[in-house]
Amino acid sequence: MTQIKNIGVYTSGGDSPGMNAAIRAVVRTALYYNLEVTGIRRGYEGMINGDMLPMDRRSVANIIQRGGTILKTARSLEFREPEGRKQAYEQLKKHGVDALVAIGGDGTFTGAKVFGHEYDIPVLGLPGTIDNDLIGTDFTIGYDTAINTVMEAVDKIRDTAESHDRLFIVEVMGRDSGLIALRTGIASGAEAILIPESKTNIDALYERLDTGRRDKSSKILIVAEGDEAGGAFEIGKLVKEKYPNYDTRVSVLGHMQRGGHPTCMDRVLASRVGVAAVEGLLAGHSNEMVGIINNQITYTPFENAIKHTVEADPNLLKIVEILSL
Ligand code: F6P
Repeated sequence: MTQIKNIGVYTSGGDSPGMNAAIRAVVRTALYYNLEVTGIRRGYEGMINGDMLPMDRRSVANIIQRGGTILKTARSLEFREPEGRKQAYEQLKKHGVDALVAIGGDGTFTGAKVFGHEYDIPVLGLPGTIDNDLIGTDFTIGYDTAINTVMEAVDKIRDTAESHDRLFIVEVMGRDSGLIALRTGIASGAEAILIPESKTNIDALYERLDTGRRDKSSKILIVAEGDEAGGAFEIGKLVKEKYPNYDTRVSVLGHMQRGGHPTCMDRVLASRVGVAAVEGLLAGHSNEMVGIINNQITYTPFENAIKHTVEADPNLLKIVEILSL
């Protein structure tokens, strides 16, 4: 195996709070081990276009607390084509990059997996997504911040819902995953949640919202954007038809869920996996995602990290049901 001299780091796909902490950890760890580091801007797009810059310890100063990503991010269609990946490889060679750390979610790792098999550049991934939908880590970087942001927003919605005796349908992010909805549903005392991982039974939902709960002043239903019943507006329409007397409002939280200062949990997670990525590359790891399971650093092959749907914990689902009486 050739000796690694220059690690390229990039963020790709949807951003998540804590990505900057991860970049900082990768850069500083590489420097600690006397390696060079190259920042690749806008993910695979920057790789293809040669948008890269050398990074030193000062280029990551004062970023651990900032949301977003200083390297910027993008979803690249070109990288899905062999020609795009060939160009990316040539640019990496030109800039002397001989190993990669990819920070992102399933789309990022799908690209990294193909690239890692096609070209002789070792690549490790760091789980950076608010969705928490990767296998091989208990939590992804950004998830804790996002669920705290949602929880605070729903607390505020609860105040006004309670004053007006209203039913609020709140849509949270998660195209293919209900894990944001599930935890924030528990934390904000939602009356019901709808998530893509479990079959949506509209009649059961009506039952939950109505029977035995007429004494409740406000009601909150949290819907994951990927739920099969449709988005919050769709559900709002159905509920309105069924209960024309309910005073119903819809609130779509949107991209505010992806911003903000990362929580302590996310900063520490990002720092730990960032260090482990550089150390893992030096130890010969490649084509794997670095995660933490039960407080232990783990390396999970990309194909396993992205191939499965992460199940919603049935115990948590049951908790929503029990506690929303
Ligand atoms: O994967 C992260 C995520 O925030 C999803 O929860 C959401 O469905 C998607 O990205 C939104 O993507 P975009 O910012 O491209 O609209």
